[in-house]
Amino acid sequence: MTNRRSPAIHVAIVFVCGIAASAGTASAETLLERGTYLVRGIAACGDCHTPRDTNGHHIAAMEMAGGYQMDLMPLGKPMTANITPDKETGIGNWTDEQIITAIREGKRPDGTIIGPPMPIAFYRQMSDRDVQAIVAYLRALPPVRNAVAKSVYERPLPPTYGPPVTSVPEVPASDKVAYGAYLAGPLGHCMECHTPMDKGRLDMTRLGAGGREFKGEAGSILISANLTPDKTDGIGEWSDAAVKNAITKNLKPDGSPLVPFMPTEWFAKISGSDLDAIVAYLRSLKPIVSR
Ligand code: HEC
Ligand code: HEC
Repeated sequence: MTNRRSPAIHVAIVFVCGIAASAGTASAETLLERGTYLVRGIAACGDCHTPRDTNGHHIAAMEMAGGYQMDLMPLGKPMTANITPDKETGIGNWTDEQIITAIREGKRPDGTIIGPPMPIAFYRQMSDRDVQAIVAYLRALPPVRNAVAKSVYERPLPPTYGPPVTSVPEVPASDKVAYGAYLAGPLGHCMECHTPMDKGRLDMTRLGAGGREFKGEAGSILISANLTPDKTDGIGEWSDAAVKNAITKNLKPDGSPLVPFMPTEWFAKISGSDLDAIVAYLRSLKPIVSR
């Protein structure tokens, strides 16, 4: 589908090396490399923030320029923001701290609240290093001038998503299940889509049980799948390879396509070890029968 364009990586790598070296991690990966891996892969910010052409394909030359309107009626019609470094229509005048607060706390520099479907409840647990890495990626993007209309919400937004997020430590990749949970929640928001809603909120007692409804093509209703290990309703009988093919290729175990709804184009870039961790985490979930 879309061609993902490289931001000015070469220039910026030199710039962020110093920051990465002081981040106290064993990894030799720079912040910008990490941010590129995350944003172009598991985090898939561009699935929402990159506008689409009339065929529904993301416009590569407008990466993160916003203006993609969603229909979440009766909740409203959110419009994604321009998060390129353009100073007038994007976030070029925001400090790193302000961008981090927007991502993890859902609050803009002027104090207003960022509405759904930006998955703030999960982003709150994004580690300091990963949120800094994502900011490094956004900063390296070419600024795109694109004035975006405001979102329309029919219901009041929450006054806050919780207390200020001060510091979130990294989840060690050596703890496979915990790291898989981190990938499927705070980084990849799989659980935002795969957990059902109850009275306008995610029902965390049914984490991963699917059943959330989305508007599909031409007025159809699409229901997210049950990812728990329940053997009949969930993916308990699926092989690891089948689960991975669903994530990275949008395929069912029999090789036929799933309805296109997941950010597959991004998820195709998730590394083998990260996929292993996601599968290990899904296998550790409590089996839940679908409703
Ligand atoms: C599921 C869709 C979705 C995803 C995924 C998503 N966002 Fe958003 N984001 C939105 C919407 C919609 C808004 C505007 C909400 C509003 O108008 O209140 C927004 C607003 C923002 C804002 C505030 C900008 C402004 O000027 O108001 C920032 C910053 C942001 N997103 C960054 C990110 C980053 C970084 C990621 C990936 C880690 C991301 N978003 C992933 C939907 C999404
Ligand atoms: C934007 C919402 C969304 C996100 C984000 C998302 N999914 Fe999905 N996923 C869906 C929907 C909807 C379906 C059902 C598609 C269909 O019925 O054809 C699905 C199907 C699946 C399936 C196939 C299961 C089955 O029984 O058919 C798997 C496995 C899966 N998702 C795993 C994941 C993982 C892991 C992540 C995060 C890396 C993820 N999904 C992120 C919406 C999402």
